[in-house]
Amino acid sequence: MSETENKTEEKDIPKMSSREFWSKLWQLLSESHRLIFVILAFTVVAALLDLLKPYIVKLVIDNLTNFQKENLTLMFVLVGMFFVSDQVRSWVTYLNNIKILRLSVDIEYNLGVKAQEKLMFLPLSYHETENTGNKIVKIERGVQRIMNLTENISWEVIPILIQVSFSLVALFITDYRLGMSLLILAPIFLHLTFKANKKMRPYRKEMYKKYEEASGKMSQSIININAVQSFVQEKQELSNFEKIKKSIRENEHFQWSKVMLSNMWRNSLVNFGTAIVLLIGIYLVYQNEITIGSLIFAFTMSVNSYSSLFRLSRFYDRMEEGKEGVSRLMDLFSVQSNLIVKENALEPDDIRGEIEFKDVEFNYNNSKKSALDKINFKIKAGKMVALVGPSGSGKTTIARLIYRHYDPLSGEVLLDGKDLRDYSLHGFRRFFAIVPQEVEVFDVSVRENIAYAKPNATQDEIEAVARTANAHEFITKLDKGYDTLVGERGIKLSGGQRQRLGIARALLADPKVLIFDEATSNLDSQSEALIKEAMDRISKNRTTIIIAHRLSTIKKADHIFVLEDGKLVEEGNHLELAHIKGGLYHKLLKLQELGEITE
Ligand SMILES: Nc1ncnc2c1ncn2[C@@H]1O[C@H](COP(=O)(O)OP(=O)(O)O)[C@@H](O)[C@H]1O
Ligand SMILES: [Mg+2]
Repeated sequence: MSETENKTEEKDIPKMSSREFWSKLWQLLSESHRLIFVILAFTVVAALLDLLKPYIVKLVIDNLTNFQKENLTLMFVLVGMFFVSDQVRSWVTYLNNIKILRLSVDIEYNLGVKAQEKLMFLPLSYHETENTGNKIVKIERGVQRIMNLTENISWEVIPILIQVSFSLVALFITDYRLGMSLLILAPIFLHLTFKANKKMRPYRKEMYKKYEEASGKMSQSIININAVQSFVQEKQELSNFEKIKKSIRENEHFQWSKVMLSNMWRNSLVNFGTAIVLLIGIYLVYQNEITIGSLIFAFTMSVNSYSSLFRLSRFYDRMEEGKEGVSRLMDLFSVQSNLIVKENALEPDDIRGEIEFKDVEFNYNNSKKSALDKINFKIKAGKMVALVGPSGSGKTTIARLIYRHYDPLSGEVLLDGKDLRDYSLHGFRRFFAIVPQEVEVFDVSVRENIAYAKPNATQDEIEAVARTANAHEFITKLDKGYDTLVGERGIKLSGGQRQRLGIARALLADPKVLIFDEATSNLDSQSEALIKEAMDRISKNRTTIIIAHRLSTIKKADHIFVLEDGKLVEEGNHLELAHIKGGLYHKLLKLQELGEITE
């Protein structure tokens, strides 16, 4: 991954409709559909049992107000029912809670794995548009929010909805006037909630974007800590970070003050509603239209409903807040790889390793400047060729196209005469290996780093490739030899050591096509000489492509391609090219000879 490219490209994603959101969420939770239905069923049962209790209390009170001895058994039966319904409710809740927590844990597992899978298989072009910190926050917050969302829905939203709707029915049955009061006030209440949330949406969006930015900023300064400290930019980095954090803080303060204000209004509405129910109830009892038991029943139901509505609205606030985080994660899941692999893609058992570029044109991210301009060449199987040219001339880009990290804009890249796009990615990449300019080293032992592409390699195999790469000697001098931990990004190794480790790793994969991208540029002259000496062994039986700006390493190449500004300007072997007076190769050669003299 290129570390210099740390800006986030905020793609303007069209706003998701609510329906789209829920249906996408439903798809994301595909592994848990069954569990969700079970939870739903339990929740309905629990909510129904909840309604039973106030009704039993009503019956008890009605019985008490004109109490007769014969009713004593009925009383006991009612108390018994009260106890039993309570007890059943406890069991159902217990079982349901277990299921809900399981759902939550499952979601964390499934989405975490899915996100990692997505990231692993998205092409380089995606990874170059967004930095590490942003991606991690996107995933972590997104997964956390989905967990909260499902917990809230199962613990609060569904029970409340059931409760409120049944209460409404019960109130209407008791007396239509009681029902009406709830029916009129509830929508006003919901309207206030929706309105407040709609206003908040842009602020939430902004906040999540800033969360990602802050994390991106943080990871960038940590990853590049060496540069930060060497150039004494600690304070600058900190102040940039603080700036983002401050804007998050202000945003949050603002949001919370708005939410609290809206809470206050909603609260007043609740108070008003319950007072109205009490008034109507007293009137109805006075008129002898309902019993005292019914009044208490209706009042309990409506107080419960109002406080539920209030809770529901708070959850709606939080749900809306969480939705933004979830949408960002969904966007990640819906990023499509722009490398399309055909259905019956080739998965050859072996390849010869002949590579051909036919009229290949390529631009990065649709930029105007072309990185490769009508490139044509053919590399015969088993040959050693070199790509040379000034920095920025397109050498690495050619390597990336050979690897199909990108597809050409037009023209085609052929492997053994067939378009790369006819193969599956794994189908051909497993025969390739590359030693890149910056060898990516994992924070594990030297041995594991070398054996990265072949984890079950034996010590002998590992040592053999390390010797060929001239790495064995320095490895044995390390603290713990092959078991030395190399630190994050191989920080404990020198540039040259990292590169030799990279060469050993590539060799262990025993590739049919081996690419060195400036792999000797970080080497001191002595190790370079050692690699040059090893080159014959390294390139045996395979197509070898050496990208180098030090021409001394490539004199032995069968064929040399010279690039300038994305164009192929010269080709031939070393001697032929060296004799083209005024040619680019000749010029480069002269420059380097001068350099060598002054060295
Ligand atoms: N990921 C990228 N996004 C946009 N432009 C790029 C990217 N990588 C390289 N380029 C540009 O493409 C051109 C060729 O780069 P590259 O192939 O890396 O050159 P070389 O390896 O010969 O030094 C340069 O102008 C460079 O700035
Ligand atoms: Mg390069």
